[in-house]
This record gives sequence, C-alpha cells and structure tokens, in this order.
Amino acid sequence: MTRQYTFTTPAILLLAALAGGCSDRAGGQDSDQDSNQTSNNNSVTATPASPVTAAAPATRRWYTQDHVTLGKTVFLEHCARCHGENAEGTPDWKQTLPDGNYPPPPLNGTAHAWHHPLSVLRSSILEGGIPLGGTMPAFADKLNDDEIYAAIAYFQSKWRDDIYNAWEKRDGLR
Ligand code: HEC
Repeated sequence: MTRQYTFTTPAILLLAALAGGCSDRAGGQDSDQDSNQTSNNNSVTATPASPVTAAAPATRRWYTQDHVTLGKTVFLEHCARCHGENAEGTPDWKQTLPDGNYPPPPLNGTAHAWHHPLSVLRSSILEGGIPLGGTMPAFADKLNDDEIYAAIAYFQSKWRDDIYNAWEKRDGLR
C-alpha cells in the first residue's frame, strides 16, 4: 500500500499502484520549472494583427465541454456539499479536524489532486477514503464511469493551465 510519489524523478515510472486517496499532504512542491509560456512576443505592442499570439494558445485537455457540463451536474449533486460548488474545498485542508480526520481538500488545482493521474482520481472516487482511514464516501454504487470522469473534468476545468500541464507531465493521463 505504498503511495509515494517521487517528485524529483520524472523519468521513473511510478509504482504508484492503484492507491486511492493521498497520504502525501505536503502539496505543491513542484516548482513550475519551465513556465510554459511560449513567449516569443517581445514586442509590447499588442497589435490585433497578430492572430497567432493574440489567440492565447489554449492548452489541449483530455475532456470536452460536454464532460464539464455533465460533470457539473454530478459534482453539484454528489460532491459539492463537501468539496464546495467550485471545488474550492476547505482552505485549511492540511489541518486535521478536532476528530483527527482531514477536511475535504480543494480539488480546484490549489491542493493535491493534481499529483494523481486519472486512474488514481477515478479509483479514489470509486472507493472513497474510508478504506484508507479517511472519511470520503465511496461512489462505486452511485456513479458510473462516465459520471466519474465527467466529475473529474469538472474540477479539472478549474485548474490553471500551468497546473494542468504539470499534471500531464507527471503522467496524469495514465
Ligand atoms: C462527505 C464529504 C465528501 C463527499 C460527499 C465527497 N468527498 Fe471527496 N473527499 C472528502 C475528504 C474528507 C477527502 C480527503 C480524504 C478522506 O478523508 O477520505 C476527499 C478526497 C477526495 C479526493 C482526493 C483528493 C486529493 O487531493 O488526493 C478526490 C479526487 C475527491 N475527494 C473527489 C470527490 C468527488 C469527485 C466527489 C463527488 C463524486 C467527492 N469527492 C465527494 C470528502 C468528501
């Protein structure tokens, strides 16, 4: 049941076998080394005559707007009461509650969810956190895969591009 992620060695195929949840609450240590700015626009004059740079190069994401739309419905119905309507979670998510449990973390890219690839996000939603000593309920009997991936798409739609890119670089699509 190890669920350690090696933050420093991107080449390693992580053995992060099927662990749901996350034990590592250090969060956000990955410096965004190469800030993905394809900035070749040294000139400050923003002339509209430069369509290539004018149209901000949208990061390609794995999901579509349809996923996000369905995901919002799923999320509002099943997740928002804990994680917040905009997946903002609990600001003090690293701080245990008086009962020793962790509060629902933000899923909007400001906490830790982006350290997990899709497959792990999926299984943590399917199985919940209770098997790992947490409190999140399991959704295996409530949501199908389409709904689970849509819910993931919804909270990922809150992620900034640099977070999304860092996630993808860490093999997020796995
Ligand atoms: C009853 C409150 C509750 C509900 C409802 C809930 N969660 Fe959670 N969630 C938590 C808590 C608390 C954690 C932290 C781990 C734990 O204690 O189980 C968590 C953890 C997570 C994680 C792991 C985050 C990380 O940084 O590793 C994901 C992903 C997640 N929830 C997604 C969802 C989704 C999607 C839904 C709706 C389908 C949902 N949760 C519904 C309370 C909840």
